[in-house]
Amino acid sequence: MNIQWYPGHMTKAKRMMQEDMKLIDIVIELLDARVPISSRNPDIDSLANNKFRLVLLNKCDLADEKINAKWEAYFKEKGIMVVTVNARDGQGMKSITAKIQEACKEKIERDRKRGILNRPIRAMIVGIPNVGKSTFINSYAKKACTKVGNKPGVTKGKQWIRINKNVELLDTPGILWPKFEDDMVGEHLAFIGSINDEILQKVELSCNLIAFFKENYPGILAERYQVEENLEATEILAGIAKNRGCLLKGNELNYEKAAGILLEEFRNGKLGRISIEQPLLEIK
Ligand code: G4P
Repeated sequence: MNIQWYPGHMTKAKRMMQEDMKLIDIVIELLDARVPISSRNPDIDSLANNKFRLVLLNKCDLADEKINAKWEAYFKEKGIMVVTVNARDGQGMKSITAKIQEACKEKIERDRKRGILNRPIRAMIVGIPNVGKSTFINSYAKKACTKVGNKPGVTKGKQWIRINKNVELLDTPGILWPKFEDDMVGEHLAFIGSINDEILQKVELSCNLIAFFKENYPGILAERYQVEENLEATEILAGIAKNRGCLLKGNELNYEKAAGILLEEFRNGKLGRISIEQPLLEIK
């Protein structure tokens, strides 16, 4: 499946991010916990060169808990600080400020030696579209400010949100673009709904998702749609169409509609907590 991204935006986004990088101490990289590899743009390593780093595995509520733990171990082993979060409901949010300080401890120490005390750490959120950047910024600003009993002080020009006396957050996130050289990346992002469905062949996509479920989460399709799973993916999709009464005129099955239902229910977590990617055991 060949999926195109919007190359025009990339150049602009990259330029903006390069400018913003000059203003900050730490880059907080938001990844989707269901697809941490596909939602990560490796260019961030050169863009954020010399910056402190923190990885957040967002939408952890939609991902498999056991696999979330494996991803945390994976990043820790690589020496990357990581927190599993649900920016929508707040899980993991309380530990963010402490993690930022931990990640920037060299800077804090350097400042202290120079006699600079209480200079707030400046942070920027980055991530691919739809990964939850705005949700995170809203949640972090609100939670942290409520906690210290303070209102967010917003300054003109570059907009900074004063989270507390220790952290200031740039209120415009950096938008990264996914890496599409690998077809798998495009497909995984399509599964989670990060790519506009209008440009996708939904039936093909949902059949690939069905094949993934059969292999990795046996039983979930049978349970939700009362389908026989020991069949080809298209036959299973036909079963879902029957179960949900997706019919065209003349009682023909409406595969397109069934595919849409399956994709939407998976993306909303109705099929349970599912991770598409998991770390390879031997990766160091
Ligand atoms: P962006 O700025 O990176 O583009 O992403 P944004 O915050 O707009 O979030 C994209 C979607 O992801 C939103 O859903 C948002 O609610 C949802 N989201 C963000 N963080 C989490 C999370 O931790 N868990 C879950 N389950 N969802 C999360 P939406 O459907 O576009 O809007 P709405 O349903 O919130 O109205």
